[in-house]
Amino acid sequence: MGVEVNLEGKIAFVTGASSGLGARFAKVLALAGARVVLASRRVERLKELRAEIESEGGDAHVVALDVTDVPSIRSAVAHAETEAGPIDILVNNSGVSTTQRLVDVTPEDYDFVFRTNTEGAFFVAQEVAKRMIARAKAKPEQQARIINIASVAGLRVLPQIGLYCMSKAAVVQMTKAMALEWGRYGINTSAICPGYIRTEINDQYFDTEAGQKLVQLLPRKRVGDPADLDGLILLLACDESRFINGAIITADDGHSVS
Ligand SMILES: NC(=O)c1ccc[n+]([C@@H]2O[C@H](COP(=O)([O-])OP(=O)(O)OC[C@H]3O[C@@H](n4cnc5c(N)ncnc54)[C@H](OP(=O)(O)O)[C@@H]3O)[C@@H](O)[C@H]2O)c1
Repeated sequence: MGVEVNLEGKIAFVTGASSGLGARFAKVLALAGARVVLASRRVERLKELRAEIESEGGDAHVVALDVTDVPSIRSAVAHAETEAGPIDILVNNSGVSTTQRLVDVTPEDYDFVFRTNTEGAFFVAQEVAKRMIARAKAKPEQQARIINIASVAGLRVLPQIGLYCMSKAAVVQMTKAMALEWGRYGINTSAICPGYIRTEINDQYFDTEAGQKLVQLLPRKRVGDPADLDGLILLLACDESRFINGAIITADDGHSVS
């Protein structure tokens, strides 16, 4: 007997789908049968991904979204639901990072990182949850998912990215608060805390001498690939994970236990 994840009939809204982890999450959810809505600022990139997903038989839609702008969040979520239907699964993935010591952090750096990673993630989840809650009142058996992409940096402090660590620690606590308040509406909120995975957020760094040294300090002396999170995103998205709520799950190749 085989078991497979079937997301047919589900609608997934993926923020930051224009590159890296978000693009991969969207592809995997589409492969499992979900209709995916691809959201971020670089719409041309989203259209390329939509074409790729469609060429593999999937169903994808594109919406422009700037998570630092609440009116943009509201209109993107409304647009997504008009185009694709009510959102069942939110992958709250948009994020940015800066590299510097804490003494060098400017108010602009602070604003940039927190407005995207913390405030942006919060208001995207809030906007989607308001709609999920309204639907749950009419249909209490309905299941919904919010999957926040935090980081292992939200659980431990890493050198040179203290500001990013602070912003992701807030996402970890936000996840637990959402799970507590929204669980009664059939919304399961959990967070994935990835370790180092090569994407545009860190590509240049891993090509430097310092980046190479860091890789040598990791337990298996390697960084991950976005596909290394396929199993986890499918697990958290599917109905069979209905008992997982408020979980903070690391996927870091053992980094945080080293
Ligand atoms: N790669 C890692 O090692 C790693 C580890 C732990 C956690 N993470 C987290 O994983 C998430 C994805 O990062 P990634 O590694 O895939 O990096 P990435 O390739 O740089 O992707 C970041 C995504 O965030 C989107 N984004 C940035 N600012 C935005 C804004 N104002 N509004 C809407 N979207 C915005 C970008 O889209 P647009 O530019 O098109 O808007 C892009 O699609 C982030 O939250 C990151 O912190 C990554």
